[in-house]
Amino acid sequence: MTDIHAKRRTRLFEKMGRGIAIIPNAPEQRRNGDSDYPYRFDSSFYYLTGFAEPDSVLVLVSGDARQSILFCREKNIEREIWDGYRFGPDAAREEFGFDAAHPIAELDEKLTELMGNQATLYYPLGADAHWDQRMLKLREAVRTKVRSGIKAPDELRDVRTLINEMRLFKDSSEIAIMRKAAAISTAAHRRAMQFVRAGIFEYEVEAELLHEFCRNGARNPAYTSIVAAGENACVLHYVANDARLKQSDLLLIDAGCEFSGYASDITRTYPVSGKFTGAKKHVYEIVLAAQTAAIDAARPGNSWEAPHNAALRVLIQGFIDLKLCRGTVDGVLEDESYRKYYMHRTGHWLGMDVHDVGDYKIDNAWRSLQPGMVLTVEPGCYIRPSDDVPRALWNIGIRIEDDVVITDKGHEVLTEAAPKTVSAIEELMKKS
Ligand code: GLY
Ligand code: MN
Ligand code: MN
Repeated sequence: MTDIHAKRRTRLFEKMGRGIAIIPNAPEQRRNGDSDYPYRFDSSFYYLTGFAEPDSVLVLVSGDARQSILFCREKNIEREIWDGYRFGPDAAREEFGFDAAHPIAELDEKLTELMGNQATLYYPLGADAHWDQRMLKLREAVRTKVRSGIKAPDELRDVRTLINEMRLFKDSSEIAIMRKAAAISTAAHRRAMQFVRAGIFEYEVEAELLHEFCRNGARNPAYTSIVAAGENACVLHYVANDARLKQSDLLLIDAGCEFSGYASDITRTYPVSGKFTGAKKHVYEIVLAAQTAAIDAARPGNSWEAPHNAALRVLIQGFIDLKLCRGTVDGVLEDESYRKYYMHRTGHWLGMDVHDVGDYKIDNAWRSLQPGMVLTVEPGCYIRPSDDVPRALWNIGIRIEDDVVITDKGHEVLTEAAPKTVSAIEELMKKS
């Protein structure tokens, strides 16, 4: 693994030109009392290091001899008795292939040396006010050395611009991890489908998902699971998960694990009864057709917008048929009356972050899809009670979401193993 991270650092060096890059890991976060939130490293820091301890900073110094330097916690037997193993600089340098490693307490002092005579200072500019202040202060400290012929960096740049573009294109090792994350999450969705029945609570279904994640080594979900029965499915970020499932409800589950630092993001919607009927079945078929059209449009060379546009046209035709919208598909696209029932976009980049980094537009135009990009495809339909809506459609909330890698020839759907056709869902639910 360290090879992969070293290669990524080399690529970042190539993009940097003459400069110094400072990439801090995420801080630990207090939850309450003496209890912290589970620690999660900063995605970009981990992408470049593979090192997962808090209180660490990566410094890349360009020049004739490029230097990758880690700052991390020192060995501390007392703390290790309480909190567990820490590498310490020497073992970390050895194990993770850095040119040098130092105690984190020496960061400021060493940085004032390392910044000298570098043209550009790269760091996550503006991401954290304390870091902004600290970087400017250090730069000022370097400036005071002007009489010894040392110059402070003239230019400050956001290192995320460079790293985010790298992270947008996943290499084969990343795709392999994302396949595994997807496999665990599809198993969890299958488990939930077999478990669901009227009378239980949404959180009981959530527990099944988390159980399946954890027993496969995915200790955390990539985001808070949404388990939304009936009208709750019309709340896009519903996370209360505390209602009881009714036989007549549709259940929307948006849940995915994080595995080895990579997210999966899957939504399935199905009847608690195990049988699709009536208006709910009709709306489901529309959303599924929209999703199929969108996935089909996820091909290299197509615009980022192509899947969204393909889904929109199918959804709008469906909304017209259901008498939710009036006019022609083009007319509804133009007047945006569809937004009452479909108010989000059809997907986002997926990677180490569930809403992953990477620009969506270049020079103000939607960028084209390229091999190695990973995106979600997640059209939906959310119908709240309203006088101008047929009563049979009230409180129907449906979303279907898959994770898709763009390949040379087209795409690979990572999350295919979670059933989504009416017949496949009914078949699996019947077995339970
Ligand atoms: N689960 C977050 C999303 O679908 O974007
Ligand atoms: Mn989702
Ligand atoms: Mn998503």
